[in-house]
Parts: sequence; C-alpha cells; structure tokens
Amino acid sequence: SATKLIAVLPGDGIGPEIMAEAVKILKALKLPIALETAPVGGAAYEAAGHPLPESTLALAQRADAVLFGAVGDWKYDKLDRPLRPEQAILGLRKHLGLFANLRPALCYPQLTHASSLKPELVAGLDILILRELTGDIYFGTPRGRRTAVDGHFPGADEAFDTMRYSRPEVERIAHVAFQAARKRRGKVTSVDKANVLETSQFWRDVVIDVHQQYPDVALDHMYVDNAAMQLVKAPKAFDVIVTGNLFGDILSDEAAMLTGSIGMLPSASLDKANKGLYEPSHGSAPDIAGKGIANPLATILSAAMMCRYTLGWGEAADRIEAAVQAVLAQGLRTGDIWSEGCERVGTQAMGDAVLQALG
Ligand code: IPM
Ligand code: MN
Repeated sequence: SATKLIAVLPGDGIGPEIMAEAVKILKALKLPIALETAPVGGAAYEAAGHPLPESTLALAQRADAVLFGAVGDWKYDKLDRPLRPEQAILGLRKHLGLFANLRPALCYPQLTHASSLKPELVAGLDILILRELTGDIYFGTPRGRRTAVDGHFPGADEAFDTMRYSRPEVERIAHVAFQAARKRRGKVTSVDKANVLETSQFWRDVVIDVHQQYPDVALDHMYVDNAAMQLVKAPKAFDVIVTGNLFGDILSDEAAMLTGSIGMLPSASLDKANKGLYEPSHGSAPDIAGKGIANPLATILSAAMMCRYTLGWGEAADRIEAAVQAVLAQGLRTGDIWSEGCERVGTQAMGDAVLQALG
C-alpha cells in the first residue's frame, strides 16, 4: 500500500528519549507513514520475559522499515546470554537478513573542534564504514564453553567461538561496497587479518574476485591493526572501508570518535532488497538515561537514512539533514558535542530546534 509501516523500537537507557525526538520529526514531515511501537531489549525482557518477543519480531518483519533506539543495561549482565538485551539486536539482524551495515563517519564543519584529533586531520572527513553484519565470529558455530570435568579434554576449562565466512556472504557485501564507492570517491579499502587468519585470506580472495566486475573502482587491502592506526593518522585517505562483523564493530566506534561524538552518527542495516533497520551508532548510555541530556541527532539522522534508503524519499532525508546542519550552525549543542561559546541544550530542546528548522 502507499502508507509505509515503520516499526518503532525504542529499547533501553536513553533509547526512549532519543526515539521520541526522531518520531516528532517524522510526524512533522507529514509523510504517508504509520508508526507502530513495540518493546525490545531489557524493556521487553521486563514486559514479556524475552529481549526479542515474537510480537516484536513479527512487527519488524511486517514493517517496511525499523527504527531502533538502543538496548542494554549493566543490570542485565547476569542473565543467561539468550536473555540479554543485546540478543534483541543480534536476533533482528539475523532474522531480517540485515547483512550490510552502513556506518558513515561524517565530520560536520561546525563540530571539527569537538574531535579529539587535530582539526586539519578531520575537517571535511567523509568516510563510509561498511560492516558485514550477519556472519563472522558473531554467529559462527560451534561456540561454547566446557569445564574440564566434562572429560572432553584434559586439564583446563575452555571457551571457543568460530570465525567463519562463506563465499556468498563475502560476495554480497563486496558488491555493496563497490556499488557504494561508485557513488562516492571510487575507492574501497578491504580490511582483514589475512597475515594470520584463514577466514581473512578467504575474504580477501573473494573481494578480489568480485572486484573484476568493478574495474572503475580502486581496491586496496589493509590489515586491521594497520587500519586502526591509519584511521587516526590520516583518516581522510579512506573512502569506503569494507570489513567483517567483528573488525567492523571495532573500527566503526573508532571512526565515530574522529567526528567528535558518536552521538552524531546514524547507521543503516540493509537486507538484499534494501529493507532496513536504522539505529544510532551509539549504545543505550544507561549512565545518562532519564536525565534528558542525550544527543538525539544520531537517531534523527537515522530516520533521514531510512527515508533515503528504504522508503525512497530522498527529499525528506535532505530536509532532515539540512535542519540538523542549521541547528548546529545556530550553535545549539548537547553535552557530548558542546564547546566554548555554544549553547548547551537537552534532548527535547534539540529535537524542538530541528523541528523548527524544518520550516
Ligand atoms: C553495535 C553494538 C552491538 C554489536 C552489540 C550491542 C551487540 O556494539 O551495534 O555496534 O556488537 O554489533
Ligand atoms: Mn559496536
């Protein structure tokens, strides 16, 4: 139908606060959307005994797109792993087939000084971390834990995870990388640990095979330890970074900090048909939850990405992004991006300002 169903999953910690601001913006745009909210993460565990209840998963599957806040709280750390809040986002990624995670790291001109790096290193930074999201050591089997008394092996307790990639898994993320690079500056850096890991050598071989179909795109390869170093040495040398689930998790947090605050960065997790889940790159920040000080911009910008990538409403996305820029230009800052001479505002005031700037 013409009306698009958006599953709104606020989650834990600051999730509900930042989500309220993003919802406010979406409603103001008067788009043909229906919003349906459901619990997820610790909130869902409290309400329904499971971090990803059947009804929430069913809504996510039925919806045209999912807008996700954040999950997790230290108070759930003692639960069995399948009941922990993090399982909700991992389960959604797996069940919805969201293998392509786009994490742009964009340094806004107004925030150049909020970065911990020298301004000249990050001014104008615009890189895209493309993280494979449904494979690797996150999902590989076997995994487990054994005590020595099980008698399977002598001596000591042990635990194990399996790093694993299949050819189709690497091929499809490589295609996304090359196609994204075509719309950007035409360069892909594939990050691996091929000097040590069999999985990584395979990853590299498959990426090279797929590259044959994209002779117009430049490809280079980098070991993950070196990539971590280059990201703080000369981040602007990158365009698209494509990497596996675990390395991508780590490098995207690092890249986020280059831009000043992880509180600014949206992300998209897409399936093969560009259906997607959109979430801020940051977590649930339980330490500041309920205080009304969290930065809602990453979630608002995630809503913009949702309009652009899944719903095909580029104009709405442009409007939201322009409004965010305008608010930054006015000097409004939440605590995470505040600097001398700027006006410190809370979560709601920031959302209201974006609303105003939409015009
Ligand atoms: C992320 C998070 C998740 C991940 C956690 C919460 C499972 O850190 O989205 O980057 O590791 O993928
Ligand atoms: Mn992470």
